[in-house]
Amino acid sequence: MIARLFRAIGLVACCLAAPSAAQELRGHGGPVRALAISADGRIALSGSFDTSAILWGIETGTALTVLRHHDGSVNAVAALPGGLFATAGEEGRIAIWRMGRPEPERVIEGHRGSVAGLALSPDGRFLASASWDGTARLIPLAGGEARVFSGHRGPVNAVAFTPDGRAIVTGGHDATLRISPVDGGPERQVMLGTPVNGLIVAPDGEIAASGADGRVHLLSPEGEARGAVAASETPIVSLAISSDGAMLAAAGIRGSVAIIDRTARRVERVLVGPGLPVWSVAFRPGAEELMTGGGDRLVRRWRVATGEHLGAVVMSRPNDALTRFADHPGAEVFRACIACHTLDSEGGNRAGPTLHGVIGRRIATVPGYDYSPALRGMTIVWSKETIARLFEVGPNAYTPGTKMPEQRVTDPQDLQALVEFIEKASRPN
Ligand code: HEC
Repeated sequence: MIARLFRAIGLVACCLAAPSAAQELRGHGGPVRALAISADGRIALSGSFDTSAILWGIETGTALTVLRHHDGSVNAVAALPGGLFATAGEEGRIAIWRMGRPEPERVIEGHRGSVAGLALSPDGRFLASASWDGTARLIPLAGGEARVFSGHRGPVNAVAFTPDGRAIVTGGHDATLRISPVDGGPERQVMLGTPVNGLIVAPDGEIAASGADGRVHLLSPEGEARGAVAASETPIVSLAISSDGAMLAAAGIRGSVAIIDRTARRVERVLVGPGLPVWSVAFRPGAEELMTGGGDRLVRRWRVATGEHLGAVVMSRPNDALTRFADHPGAEVFRACIACHTLDSEGGNRAGPTLHGVIGRRIATVPGYDYSPALRGMTIVWSKETIARLFEVGPNAYTPGTKMPEQRVTDPQDLQALVEFIEKASRPN
């Protein structure tokens, strides 16, 4: 009760603040396994164990589109040139998406196991994928046959291109790195001595590989060892590099995130704060910011120079429904919905349709919103009871085939508060 009171007070405080960008991206129903940011630093793409991917406007903190295609967790994502994005799933498929469209533009099949890593070639023409089926693939984005690399013994966890785009570097569970020329020719195998989970090639060609031993290993472009930085007590699950190549970020499976000065070969600082464990990291181009995807289902932003967490600030306009009903206990529960749904007449659609006037409305009937075919075929009428049911059993069970990421409100009191809040705040006036 006290906790809830404090949470409510926190919300009031935040909503009285001047309109400001949301810093926490809340929308996934499971841990955020993969993160990528567009080259202009404005759009983030997150992939989750909840089988969905979400495109986010970073400054507004709102979800732009929910991408649902994969049958298992979305383990790797990449931002491509020309407003395209790639997601890769546990079932082995890679989907290519165009900004603003809810269906994939292209689906690439071929892997027979989970796809754990994706990388874009420096010229933007090829996508490389690493898979637990033991292979890496080089996929021409313009279409055509993929080239298959099958040197590793066991799962391939990570892939990166060399700066000239002439070779791919792959890291595997077999504790080796392989440097493979893209146009054929002999592969170079490097023994690392620990299973490799993360892989980066810096702009100057230096290879950084992180693994089960919690260290970031640095190697020459030819694969000669140049030292290692101890970054974590536990295996490293995700590795990223800043756009200028100066900094690396390494996330440990149970620990926090180490920011490494690559030239000095030293951990500059460790991010501590909410959102641990971290499953994914990405630097934001053009900003001194790191984004992390956590086990708590949120995407968070951090200032690289200080390690400071850019805290939660809910976006609000002076008179919007959330501000007007900020002291309602359900307002706090509705924070789980806010990235994707607005409530008042001016809010419009986000990744999900507006909930303005939702009570008494038949499912899938907001004009101009691109619903999934599954939802369009249903006859539910939204009421406090049906919305409660939706989050009691979860969208996948109540509305099978929906694009909304799986999530549930398990506490009956919270659920009651949520639907009462929605009834009040969504009422047309
Ligand atoms: C990550 C984005 C996201 C989050 C978070 C989210 N939703 Fe949704 N929601 C959607 C999408 C997308 C749809 C449309 C689904 C479709 O077309 O299959 C939707 C549909 C709905 C609908 C049906 C609307 C209609 O017009 O038929 C309701 C009701 C709803 N959501 C309520 C909620 C509530 C309440 C929460 C918070 C507990 C929530 N949603 C959280 C994305 C989200």
